[in-house]
Amino acid sequence: MKKTAKKIIEFKKNGKKITALTAYDYSSAKYFDKAGVDIILVGDSLAQVALGYGSTCEVTTEEMLVFTKAVSRGVQDALVVADMPFMSYQISTEDAVKNAGKFIQAGAQAVKIEGASQYIIETITRITQSGIPVMGHLGFTPQYINTIGGHYVSGKNVHSTIEISNKAQSLEKAGVFSIVLEMVPQESSDFITKKLNIPTIGIGGGKFCDGQILVSDDILGKYDEFCPKFARQYSSLKDIIFNVAKAYCNDVEKGNFPSAAESFTLNSDEVEKLENYTQD
Ligand code: KIV
Repeated sequence: MKKTAKKIIEFKKNGKKITALTAYDYSSAKYFDKAGVDIILVGDSLAQVALGYGSTCEVTTEEMLVFTKAVSRGVQDALVVADMPFMSYQISTEDAVKNAGKFIQAGAQAVKIEGASQYIIETITRITQSGIPVMGHLGFTPQYINTIGGHYVSGKNVHSTIEISNKAQSLEKAGVFSIVLEMVPQESSDFITKKLNIPTIGIGGGKFCDGQILVSDDILGKYDEFCPKFARQYSSLKDIIFNVAKAYCNDVEKGNFPSAAESFTLNSDEVEKLENYTQD
């Protein structure tokens, strides 16, 4: 059955841990969905893992829309959330609502927005009032990397934990249905989570969050340029891809591919005619 933003809130009330993964293509999304993942995020992490950019700030709305369409076509039950990329919601509220609408028209059922400044709170309020569910994102917020200055853990003391908690409550008031907590100590996440009626989804946020999200390329072991401490690698897809490509090249070079079964063949009459054919 299709999961909705409302259903995700109910999961917290019922004590069901929420599962979430990023996806960027049709077939991965299809199998994550079949496996029962509750939320599939078309994360702007695709900037790095699918497009090879240096940071998430480089991906555009137009690019994100292509991936959102592909993922949405593969999903039946999971809630598809599209990450609103850098500069798609910062210029004006009107622009933000328009861009959020594009992601819904591309097949997502919700969008994700980083931060909780006064401007962001107003923007999220307008987007949710337009009928578009919004997921918040606090703690380490990659789109602000140029002002933060690095990949730092947030909420490392009481003062900063209270600050995140207050922001999370403002996001809840603005209408978000869940909040990603990235790189926040588990005790701080626990404090923040207990103050909210909406679920927290941790990524490096520890076990007390209401759910967990990871970048699929990290759990699959596909992207090897950087693997964060909090990502559990379940497979080494990069080795599988490398070995398959190597075996294929070897077979082609040695004449072992294609076999007759992998080729189209003429019937024996046509073969004989072809062999006896001489050009006038
Ligand atoms: O883009 C992304 O993959 C994300 C996750 C880290 C939550 O925002």
